[in-house]
Amino acid sequence: MSLIKLLNNKIDRILFTTPSHNQKPRFDFNVNSFYKVDYSEIEGFDNLSNPKGEILMSMARASQLMRAKQTFFVTQGVTSAMLAAMKTIINQDDKVLVARNCHKSVYNGLILTNAFVDWFMPDTIDEWGIYGVIDPKKLENTLKINNYRAFIMTSPTYEGINSDIKEISKICKNYGVYLIVDEAHGALYNFSDNLPQSAMAQGADISVISLHKTAGALNQTALLNVSYDINNIEINQFQQSLNLFQTTSPSYPLLLNIEMCLNYLSGKDGKKDIQNLINDIENFKKDLKRFGVDVYEADNHDITKILVKKEGISGLDLSDFLYRDFNIEDELNNQISCLYLTGIGTSRQKLDKLKNALKKVITNESYEEEKIEFQPMPIVKIRPSDAFNHNFIYVNKQDCLLKISNTLVLPYPPGIGVLYPGEAIQKWHLDYLNNDVEVIV
Ligand SMILES: Cc1ncc(COP(=O)(O)O)c(C=O)c1O
Repeated sequence: MSLIKLLNNKIDRILFTTPSHNQKPRFDFNVNSFYKVDYSEIEGFDNLSNPKGEILMSMARASQLMRAKQTFFVTQGVTSAMLAAMKTIINQDDKVLVARNCHKSVYNGLILTNAFVDWFMPDTIDEWGIYGVIDPKKLENTLKINNYRAFIMTSPTYEGINSDIKEISKICKNYGVYLIVDEAHGALYNFSDNLPQSAMAQGADISVISLHKTAGALNQTALLNVSYDINNIEINQFQQSLNLFQTTSPSYPLLLNIEMCLNYLSGKDGKKDIQNLINDIENFKKDLKRFGVDVYEADNHDITKILVKKEGISGLDLSDFLYRDFNIEDELNNQISCLYLTGIGTSRQKLDKLKNALKKVITNESYEEEKIEFQPMPIVKIRPSDAFNHNFIYVNKQDCLLKISNTLVLPYPPGIGVLYPGEAIQKWHLDYLNNDVEVIV
């Protein structure tokens, strides 16, 4: 089938995935007008790689909304925003501490910066089979005995777990460590008092935000935020790093979409829509509890990420059941729970469909909940950039134990590495590997 056929077919699935917009614009952006606004840097137009006019002014307005010293518009996703942030902050041979539940773009940034990495294990929430917060005490103990250039972490996680960035940023500042927060899933935080505080508001040095995941904008729209605390690095260095990763033909339609999205979020409609979404999910949760469906709740949890489980059925079977019988697709699931993402574009009707489907889930009394084994601390043998440039051979799976992997094992979503090149292959990795394994010699 061609792409034309694929995308012209009506997809009647009910998606609780990214992007949140549900294939409809919530703010005035007509896809048919894409061509009308698709220009290059013609005379009188601004230039994303050296903004001096309308783009600069629009980014200045965005900086205020984001509580940042400087916000940059990015048209190639949080991935390129993260790469640019890392390229600016991290120098050759620096040592960086990275939370293991970071997205693979951070690993790519480690390759590009020639940095050494230590991994930091976040807490786990075993009853739901998900990663939890970054424990500030544990972080402080790690920073005390090592010399890191930066700490990179994700908050919120896919499942809406928010770490105490205020405390973490204080600790990082005490130890002279830059704090970079992947806030891809937290685009709504600056626009509601009923959601967790944004990373910028809590003192992070840098945050990267995706506007397509929850804020109703088009795929690839993102922001890079630099805080007022970054004194000794010129804003221009961030621009230069962005220019390394961004095309020289940035999309005006996407830039326009970013500006419209921020205008909408900060205006009456955006605020009202976010509050309505929160109210609808609160009601949804109350209803579901009456039907024996558990919905994850905790202090500082982002309510827009609906994580559910039900006694008597595994998360995997729950996901299959809703998909097969109700056409409802989740973003992510594990043996225990399923994650339904919402955002700008999620209507009450859509939530009702999910609620009604969840009420009808058939369970089995004799089913015993499985325990999820979280990965142990990885054994890093060589740095990511060395692994990237190394030769490799294939060995049989039975001979690969403790050899240095050249294989990337990375379930997507969530895009969190189970095994990265440069790490020793441990016994528990074997389940993920094919018969021929790439190892570094
Ligand atoms: C936590 C997190 N960070 C970064 C990214 C990458 O974002 P993008 O797809 O906008 O490049 C993702 C994408 O799924 C993500 O979930």
